Amino acid sequence: MKIAFFDTKKYDQEVFEPKLKAAKIKAKFYDTRLDEDDVVLAKGCDVVCVFVNDTVNTTVIDKLKEYGVKMIALRCAGFNNVDYKHAAEVGITVVRVPAYSPYAVAEHAMALLLTSTRKIHKAYIRTRDFNFSLQGLTGFDLYGKTVGVIGTGKIGKVFINICKGFGMKVIAYDKFPSKDLDVEYKPLDAVYREADILSFHCPLTDDTLHMFNFGTLGKIKPGVVIINTSRGALIDAEALLEGIKNQKIGAACLDVYEEESGYFYEDLSGSIIDDDTLSRLISMPNVIVTSHQAFLTKEALENIATTTIENVKQIDAGKECPNIVK
Ligand code: NAI
Repeated sequence: MKIAFFDTKKYDQEVFEPKLKAAKIKAKFYDTRLDEDDVVLAKGCDVVCVFVNDTVNTTVIDKLKEYGVKMIALRCAGFNNVDYKHAAEVGITVVRVPAYSPYAVAEHAMALLLTSTRKIHKAYIRTRDFNFSLQGLTGFDLYGKTVGVIGTGKIGKVFINICKGFGMKVIAYDKFPSKDLDVEYKPLDAVYREADILSFHCPLTDDTLHMFNFGTLGKIKPGVVIINTSRGALIDAEALLEGIKNQKIGAACLDVYEEESGYFYEDLSGSIIDDDTLSRLISMPNVIVTSHQAFLTKEALENIATTTIENVKQIDAGKECPNIVK
C-alpha cells in the first residue's frame, strides 16, 4: 500500500508520518497540488490523498485510473473539488473525513466575529506601535443581536450553541432542517432580512453556489456582518465587494474565498497579487481574511490523520467504510 499525499505542508507530514509508520503504509508527500499537470506523481501509488484545493476532475480521475490508483482519500470534509460521480463510474472509491472537529471551525467563526466587532485586529497593530488611542475602535455588543446561521449541520450546530452562550437570538436556514435542534428555522430570504450577523455553514453545491449574490444586497439589513468559514463560492465575491463599497455590509469575516486556490496556503508576501477583487477586499478596514485556517487545530489535525488512515485501511480490507462519498 502506497499513498501519494498532495498539497501537503510540514504540519500535515508531522502528524501523518508516525501513524503511517504504525500502519505500515508507505507514503510520498508532495507540496504540489494534484491537477492535470502533476497527476503523473501518482504513478505507482494505490491511493491519492488530497485536500480542499486539489483539482480532481474527469481528466485527473481518468489518469489516476490509468495509473492503477484505486482510492481518492480526501483529508477534509468538503468534496466539491472532486468529481466523485465520475470516480464511481471508473471504479475509484472516494472517501473523506466528514467530521474532525466542528469546534475548530465554529470557534474560528466566532473568533473572526469578535475580532471584527471589537476591532481587535486594529487594536493589536496600534498597541504594538505604542498607540493607545481608542478613537475609531467602538464596537457593538453581540448580546441581543440576531445571528442567521445558514447550514445547521455539525459546524452550524456548534456555532449556534456558541452564539446562544453570548445571549444572541439565533435564526437559521437549512434545506434539510434538523428535527432535534432548538432553533427557529426561517426561509432564506427571511434570514437575510432579519439577521444582524450572517454565518455560512452549508456545503458548496449547484444549489448553494453564489447563494449570496447581487440580489441578496437588496435583502440584507444595513450594517450586517458576513462570516464565511464554509466555501468561498457560496458568496459572489463581486457582490460582497459591492456591498462593502456601498456600506450596505458592515463587515466581512472570510476564511474562504471564491478564487482562493492560487493564493491561500502560500506565502505570496513578495508577489504582486493579480486578483483585484481579493486585493480590494483585503484592503478594506472592515474585512478580515484568514487563509482557510478554520480547521487548523491540533485536535483537528490528529482526527484528520486518524480517520484518513482508517478509511484507507477499511477500503483496502474490503470492509464497510462509513465515509465513502456517494
Ligand atoms: P454538515 O454536512 O454536517 O452540514 C451541512 C449542512 O448544510 C447540513 O445541515 C445540510 O442539510 C445543509 N445544507 C445542504 N444543502 C444546503 C442548501 N442548499 N442550503 C442550506 N443548507 C444546506 O457539514 P459541516 O461539517 O457542518 O461542514 C459545513 C461546511 O463547512 C463543509 O461543507 C465545508 O465546506 C466547510 N468546512 C470548512 C472548513 C474550514 O477550514 N474553513 C473546515 C471544515 C468544513
